[in-house]
Amino acid sequence: MQFRRPDGGLYAEELMGEEGFSSDSSLLYHRYLPTAIVKAEAVEPLLPATTSPNLPLSPRHFRTQDLASAGDLVTGRMLLSANGDVRLSYATSDRPSELYRNSMGDECVYIQSGNVRFESTYGVIEAGEGDYVVIPTGTIHRWVPSGTVNVLAIEASGHIRPPKRYLSQYGQFLEHAPYCERDLRTPQEPFTAEGEEVPVLVRTRGGLTRLVYRNHPFDVVGWDGYLYPYAFHINDFEPIVKKTHAPPPVHQTFEGPGFVVCSFMPRPLDFHPDAVPIPYNHHNVDSDEFMFYVGGDYSARAGSGIDVGSISLHPAGFTHGPQPGAVEAVIEAGATHTSEMAVMVDTFRPLDLGQGALSCEDPGYAWTWAR
Ligand SMILES: [Fe+2]
Repeated sequence: MQFRRPDGGLYAEELMGEEGFSSDSSLLYHRYLPTAIVKAEAVEPLLPATTSPNLPLSPRHFRTQDLASAGDLVTGRMLLSANGDVRLSYATSDRPSELYRNSMGDECVYIQSGNVRFESTYGVIEAGEGDYVVIPTGTIHRWVPSGTVNVLAIEASGHIRPPKRYLSQYGQFLEHAPYCERDLRTPQEPFTAEGEEVPVLVRTRGGLTRLVYRNHPFDVVGWDGYLYPYAFHINDFEPIVKKTHAPPPVHQTFEGPGFVVCSFMPRPLDFHPDAVPIPYNHHNVDSDEFMFYVGGDYSARAGSGIDVGSISLHPAGFTHGPQPGAVEAVIEAGATHTSEMAVMVDTFRPLDLGQGALSCEDPGYAWTWAR
């Protein structure tokens, strides 16, 4: 449609559309042509992106508390684990990132601590500790921290969405879902900036490119549609509890191609009088479980070395469960609630290990159940 500037000229219309324009889309109206680039240059990654298989097969414990930071919240991502479907990285920074566009897939960035302004062509989202920020593929954005910010970045190879089973056939959240539309925070008003020859770091399957735009890409005066970045705070996830132990699908928050994201939140424990109120030993035979411990008390994992900031990787091929004595201790204590908080990414293909993970691994973790 024709939308005109105050001087009578046309705004430049852009359709951002998923799945070959056969799925969600938005229309954005720019002051300048979103096609006008003046330079393109290949960029070497700041940090290594290589991975190695989880061999010999072992459960792993990574201490993100011990990772040294470099770069910003994009270039400083230390690769922890990855497969063909998803890349999981950790970053710590107090400085603004450059403009960035991930054209490989959606990102879900979990803010472990600190406050950060997410600026994008769609507008601004103020985010802080406990927020997931979900960014559609191709969205030009940057991160502007106030103070030090720690994040877990989940980079998909496709789209990250609420699980289908939470939605009606027309896309409304159902009443049994653990969160709903009211919990999602979207940009509220246009966010524009002026500038010429503005670089944007673009990630594609082939690598990194810096495209220089003739005008500042933050020039969108309005948009509408179903495709946009949003934030969801983990405290707004309403845990679903059962009389006896419920496996992790009750904690599912998002789904992506080949993986799910789950939020473990403080909740009442299983309430059958004979329930064992912590997990059974379990073998998630088709998945690798990558669990980031973000808050609460981990006494149920006493002896494992797990603490806030830890990440455990429990791969398929290995049965895991509570540490020795934990079941007896929790029954003895008559515990009725857990304060544990965790963000879990379960993948359906094995996760390889990145340099970030290997540099902060606790080598004794695999043997803690046999002590
Ligand atoms: Fe598990």
